[in-house]
Amino acid sequence: MMAACTWLNNLYRDPADSKLEGVDLSAPLTYADRFRIRHPGGSWDTFPPHIDGGSIERWEDPAFRACFSDILSGNWRQHDPYALLGRLNARASLYQRPNRASIFRTFQGWLAMSETAPTQGTLKVFPDVLLSNAYLILRPFFRPLVPVDSKDIMNHQNWEFDISSPEFPGIVLRDDGFSGPRPTPELHPHMFLEKTMTSVPKVMPGDAVFWHCDVVHSVEQEHTGTEDSAVMYIPALPTCPLNQAYVEKQKECFLNGIRPPDFPQGLEQFPGTGTPKDILSSVGQRAMGLTVAVA
Ligand SMILES: [Fe+2]
Repeated sequence: MMAACTWLNNLYRDPADSKLEGVDLSAPLTYADRFRIRHPGGSWDTFPPHIDGGSIERWEDPAFRACFSDILSGNWRQHDPYALLGRLNARASLYQRPNRASIFRTFQGWLAMSETAPTQGTLKVFPDVLLSNAYLILRPFFRPLVPVDSKDIMNHQNWEFDISSPEFPGIVLRDDGFSGPRPTPELHPHMFLEKTMTSVPKVMPGDAVFWHCDVVHSVEQEHTGTEDSAVMYIPALPTCPLNQAYVEKQKECFLNGIRPPDFPQGLEQFPGTGTPKDILSSVGQRAMGLTVAVA
């Protein structure tokens, strides 16, 4: 997993080719995320198409917004989802809400702990991150002139540039703040989500699936299999000041057997949690912040 994450982190690049202080794409860090066991049957509507790691922050935070500057200046084809610079300082969680990743993940990922095939509760992704980024970032600045269920909704003449509205389609205001982006067929008809969201192929235990941090993804509603569908969420994190600072706090939580900072807090102690003795490799120990890098 550490080797795979290192490879993924190195898909990002610095267009200016400057030496960025405190950044090492080849030194992965670890973000302790969730473990999921989904039983067969039932229907989940908990994870419709969405993007994690920043909601209204994508527009509101100047550094995060800089990641999309080519799109916002009209040169959307030049947008590089793998440009490193803005990502390093992007504040993806301005309001410190629980369950919001505050770190920079180059890719989100999960490690399969069971055999899972399409229709068995697996992951679906939108297959083009350049197009979805361009469309989602610009969508708040356009307004349809016909009802969303009109057969003429796809005609570009039925859309108008309009910056008078404070609405951000797909950004949902909840009790605990903004969530989303959550594109929907009604609000984002040009994404053809019913057709384009694609299930990942069958995975076996030990297979890992990664998707770029801006990729629209969802979880299948149905699980028609006969076994549990179980995954560990393990993203790819490079070393950078933002991630290093988080890993320092996460380490203290790990040593105390309590939940990491980005998650709902509670004081309960869980039996059987890991200890530093369980992390055998020097790469893993460093990724958890237990040792410092040797230059
Ligand atoms: Fe997600």
